[in-house]
Amino acid sequence: MELETVLNERWSCRGFLPDAVPEETLRKVFTLAQRTPSWCNVQPWHTHLVSGGAAEQLAKVLTEAAVAGGLNTDFPIPAGYHGVYDDRRRAAGYALYASLGIERSDKLARNLQMLKNWSFFGAPHVAVITTDRDLGVYGAIDCGGYVANLVNAAHDAGLATVPQAALAFYAEELREFLGLPDDRQVVCGVSLGYADPEHPANAFRTERAEVGDAVTFVSDVSSLEGKPDDQGSAHRARDLAGLRSPLGRRRCLEGGGRDPSDPPAVAHGRAEGGQRLCHRGSRRPDAGRRRLGDPARTRHPRPVVAIDRVRLR
Ligand SMILES: Cc1cc2nc3c(=O)[nH]c(=O)nc-3n(C[C@H](O)[C@H](O)[C@H](O)COP(=O)(O)O)c2cc1C
Repeated sequence: MELETVLNERWSCRGFLPDAVPEETLRKVFTLAQRTPSWCNVQPWHTHLVSGGAAEQLAKVLTEAAVAGGLNTDFPIPAGYHGVYDDRRRAAGYALYASLGIERSDKLARNLQMLKNWSFFGAPHVAVITTDRDLGVYGAIDCGGYVANLVNAAHDAGLATVPQAALAFYAEELREFLGLPDDRQVVCGVSLGYADPEHPANAFRTERAEVGDAVTFVSDVSSLEGKPDDQGSAHRARDLAGLRSPLGRRRCLEGGGRDPSDPPAVAHGRAEGGQRLCHRGSRRPDAGRRRLGDPARTRHPRPVVAIDRVRLR
């Protein structure tokens, strides 16, 4: 399949057939996902691909945890959705519930549908993706790229998938079930198998914003001036171009910038189903004292490459 076709056609499946995928196909898909780029090529992702009876047992553990309520995540969940993000989130949710014939006011039906996350929407396989704790947010970014390649490679192989942050809501249960060491953080899960073409949850497709809403094409820095909120971008662009160097600081290409291991702020919010959320990102013993201005925050590993007043031609 053409890459363009794969990107345009892939979609998130929420109704699978029980048929197992041949091991050869699974190996091909996961081998392709291994081609994902990562910072310094560290390849921090690790996948536990849980299938068959083990998947059924895991579904039971996670569903029980979800019914009991309360979450434990390794990463902060979104603190809130505002503006266009809220619009898009709602549109996706309403499209799903409309295709299932669930009224907006029917909270019980919505919660029962949400609960299906933890039995993988009937998929015979679920991939649990973890990263290394010390690699921080960049490790998670690398895993995000891996997930994208995985779902696209799976689509190309005739499989259906759905990435699921919901599976990471119960990191402790996954840690215990899979025997994960404490330095592995659960990023998300991906359920996969063959789509049930008759399932109503598979009858809708989501939309995307126009490219102009997502990409600012910059060829002339001065064109950024004067726009609300663009002042910072213009200054940053000038910094990069060596035109302005606040504090005359040396910059570094690798190992510099914001400390990637900065602990995330504790987030509180609500999941799609309205559950109250909180994560345990503050587990680091020094989490509370690493604030702006704290020397601990500005300590960086020795830069691999340092550049001073780079001039772009
Ligand atoms: C990181 C990530 C987490 C997601 N978590 C969930 C989830 O927990 N449950 C779910 O049903 N869909 C989940 N999705 C699927 C999104 O809702 C879906 O990708 C989005 O609505 C766009 O639709 P599409 O994948 O069909 O193009 C997740 C997607 C991503 C990338």
